Amino acid sequence: MFNRNLDHSTLLTTAVRAAREAGTVLTQSARSGFRIEYKAAINLVTDADRAAEERIVQTILAAHPSHRILAEERGQGGSDDSLYQWIVDPLDGTTNFAHGFPFYSVSIGLEHDGESVLGVVLDPVRDELFTAVRGQGAYMNSEPIHVSDVKTLDKSLLVTGFAYNIRETPNNNLDHFARISLRAQAVRRTGSAALDLCYVAAGRFDGYWEVVLSPWDMAGGIVILREAGGMVSGITKNPFSLYGQELVATNGLIHDQLLDALHQRPDSP
Ligand code: IPD
Ligand code: CA
Ligand code: CA
Repeated sequence: MFNRNLDHSTLLTTAVRAAREAGTVLTQSARSGFRIEYKAAINLVTDADRAAEERIVQTILAAHPSHRILAEERGQGGSDDSLYQWIVDPLDGTTNFAHGFPFYSVSIGLEHDGESVLGVVLDPVRDELFTAVRGQGAYMNSEPIHVSDVKTLDKSLLVTGFAYNIRETPNNNLDHFARISLRAQAVRRTGSAALDLCYVAAGRFDGYWEVVLSPWDMAGGIVILREAGGMVSGITKNPFSLYGQELVATNGLIHDQLLDALHQRPDSP
């Protein structure tokens, strides 16, 4: 059982505090301005990403100095032999943030002995805080949330995303996007994977898929989605892994239909 001897509420308090502090950094930077650098042709990073991450790491290590942290901008840090690993995306939706499009989030997940056990995702623009601890349900601003009850793909509002290597690889999701757009009620692309997962958890979307994600995009939202009654898998037959890049996340009811549609050959009707 997860962490019988550890206090879940202490871990959750740390995660929420860290997310809120990072959210304040992002909100202030959005108002006062920030510098943009390019990691690659269309892959941006701002000094707000780095400042928010620094704040999260300091807050986690102040409360749990022996824990490991995997954070998007600084990589792996902390003790090698801890069973706890925090996985941090300080700004999920950097392209949106850099353009002033108000849809981005802070995402923090916690693994214990390789199992995802806690997730916190904060949308600082709408002040929506999504939280979950394994086995204890999912919440938005302390109210329970649940996935939708939509049963068919053609009545589903879906969401997807595209990785920064979209120009370099044929595995860029454009084929899936074209095909699923003809099968679903509609498909959106919001630009924040963590919020996409939380929106499925809250019943705002019915399903979400993406083909190239990183652990920090998913670590917080996965726990929230599962605790809200949702289902996750890879696109191929492999079981879901935070480190496996692919993700299909749904309300459970449309999961097989979405998988079937993703597996259809491009020239099938
Ligand atoms: C990106 C966002 C986007 C997803 C990309 C991610 P970032 O994260 O989550 O929605 O489609 O695959 O890389 O770079 O804004 O943290
Ligand atoms: Ca991200
Ligand atoms: Ca990021």
